[in-house]
Amino acid sequence: MLRTGTQVIELAPSILSADFARLGEHVAAAASGGGTVIHVDVMDGHFVPNLTLGPPVVRSLRKATDLPLDCHLMIENPDEYIPEFAAAGANWISIHQEACRHLDRTLHLIQSHDCLAGVVINPATPVDTLKEVLSIVDYVLVMSVNPGFGAQKFIPTTLNKVRRLVDLRAEKDFDYRIEIDGGIALDTVAEVVRAGAEILVAGNAVFGQGDPTKNAAQLLKAAVEANLQKV
Ligand code: DX5
Ligand code: ZN
Repeated sequence: MLRTGTQVIELAPSILSADFARLGEHVAAAASGGGTVIHVDVMDGHFVPNLTLGPPVVRSLRKATDLPLDCHLMIENPDEYIPEFAAAGANWISIHQEACRHLDRTLHLIQSHDCLAGVVINPATPVDTLKEVLSIVDYVLVMSVNPGFGAQKFIPTTLNKVRRLVDLRAEKDFDYRIEIDGGIALDTVAEVVRAGAEILVAGNAVFGQGDPTKNAAQLLKAAVEANLQKV
């Protein structure tokens, strides 16, 4: 975690693009490059058209790292699974606005399991749909691709939502953090940081090719430089 000015920028390597047979090793490599949160993408084949992993993998990751595990649930009926993810060792749990009929209840359920609660919005979902929960969430995750797959192209219009979240937080004195997920790489990281994103999820840019330690370090360096330019 690097504190620059008033803002803390964190890199959250997404294991979606890691080698699942060498997960512990890949997580350690990304951490030594400066990753401070491990982003875990949970997909159910219904809410998104892909399947990934569940609580057993979170339990194994818990033994492999001391870093917070940020579980991004891209699943329907998240209430049914939140207790199990928390028991497996998740520290942060985020759920999609689009998947929750009772968003307020689900966010409180996450917090009742001593996890930080995040709410996620897809690229087509406006920030205003979150107005009634912004005072209770610990973080807001703005999807900058349509969820389901790694290595997709960044959608630039999502930056307006990051800016809007920054403005709303200042206006209303809320204290959520702002996370962004999808297409974050050396060519996009500066603009997302300048827009106000603080927790940067990156899968392909860290684990896609080359050395995850070097990739993470390079990305974090670019993010911190962009943050300094802001001040
Ligand atoms: C996509 C996932 C992302 C994914 C991002 O649905 O939520 O966390 O890993 O991957 P990249 O960084 O490759 O776009
Ligand atoms: Zn994700």
